[in-house]
Amino acid sequence: MADWMRRKPMGRLAAQAEGGGLVKSLSWPHLVALGVGAIVGTGILTLIGVGVDRAGPAVLLSFAIAGAICACAALAYAELSTMMPAAGSAYTYNYVVLGEIFAWVVGWSLILEYSLVVSTVAVGWSGYAAPLLAGVGFPAELAKGPELGGLINLPAIFIIAVVAGLLMFGTRESARLNSLLVIIKIVTLILFVAVTLPYFQPDNLHPFMPFGFAKLAGPDGIERGVMAAAAIIFFAFYGFDAISTAAEETKRPERDLAIGIVGSLVICTLIYIGVAAAAVGAIPFTRFADSPEPLALILREIGRPGVAQIVAAAAVIALPTVLLAFLYGQSRIFLVMARDGFLPPKLAAVSKRGTPARITALTAVLVAILAGVLPIDQIAALANAGTLIAFMSVGACLLVLRKRSPDLPRPFRTPLAWLVGIGAVAGCLYLFVSLPSRTLLYCLIWNVIGLAVYFGYGRRRALLGSN
Ligand code: ALA
Repeated sequence: MADWMRRKPMGRLAAQAEGGGLVKSLSWPHLVALGVGAIVGTGILTLIGVGVDRAGPAVLLSFAIAGAICACAALAYAELSTMMPAAGSAYTYNYVVLGEIFAWVVGWSLILEYSLVVSTVAVGWSGYAAPLLAGVGFPAELAKGPELGGLINLPAIFIIAVVAGLLMFGTRESARLNSLLVIIKIVTLILFVAVTLPYFQPDNLHPFMPFGFAKLAGPDGIERGVMAAAAIIFFAFYGFDAISTAAEETKRPERDLAIGIVGSLVICTLIYIGVAAAAVGAIPFTRFADSPEPLALILREIGRPGVAQIVAAAAVIALPTVLLAFLYGQSRIFLVMARDGFLPPKLAAVSKRGTPARITALTAVLVAILAGVLPIDQIAALANAGTLIAFMSVGACLLVLRKRSPDLPRPFRTPLAWLVGIGAVAGCLYLFVSLPSRTLLYCLIWNVIGLAVYFGYGRRRALLGSN
């Protein structure tokens, strides 16, 4: 077999996990909190504005489509992560099931996903923080990037620095704080629905689908349609995959991971449907399209500025949970890839506190630079591209493993596995091609660079080839 198609034996995962040095401190309530903490964020709080700009009120359909596709991916993740409870998530499943080159491409895509999610959410945080900061005299041009007429987005950089500091302090402390912030976030969204729903006007839903279904460029050059919106709104749903990167720090992974992954996605989907319906019913969609703080804006427009302040403050306090989960996930992906020889081993060093501090700091610096200068819809779309590649591959791994090794023990067996696997692969592919054309080009460039790194460095260094 060509070396780039070699597969990692499943038995080796356990041995690597034992020697990994990470502390086993998490159980399922932590994981559900970690999941909801990672899922509910800038997608529902900010990108809903981009979504209505692309699809009009039919963004409701976009939510349903993206949610259904994510449900397939989540079930595939639940089956694979309980079979292979090792840090590394989709990267590891690909190494075991499909082969090294797939693992590399997926690992490289996960780096794109996790990094850009951190940047996107930091910019979303800044969108809600900026009006509050303006109230105490903070200059507006220091709270947005150059494309929006500012200089640099300092609040976005600041929040990344704070979260990176927390993570370097230690997993357990961070997980406790995370649970508290998750509760604040959920209560806030329920408050939004409760206050906004009485203002529901069916007229605001007409015309329901002004930009059609499939992606199509409008006169202003922006690609719109229900699927174009779904490809952006997809951002709101993922985060459950971050749970699987915590596998090695989980006390009973075979049970806790499935509960964490499926449970957190179900909770979030229910909340989103309520928020999206309340939002598009409250005011005409054009009034909050592309707003940096759409939920607060809607509340002000219906004459509830006090509640708008509460929602903005809660977003500012609670959005960092998403940063926490993805920065955490990013450092673990790096760690596992470095452990396999693909990245310099010094990067994988675990500090005295049992956290990979060096990688966390390095990642934080890189994503802070991006967050400081880039506009939110572009970063989010590219983050989605990386995630969709990973989700497609996980669907494929589920199908291949069911066919190749039907009798392997599966602590969690997804129901209707063939439907779920094909739904994940085909659905993610449709979302992927519905992304903005420019995003697809950037994603291609990213992967060409990735393959150059693999063939120039990773392929020779891969530890799997040396023993
Ligand atoms: N799903 C996460 C969010 O919406 C990434 O912020």
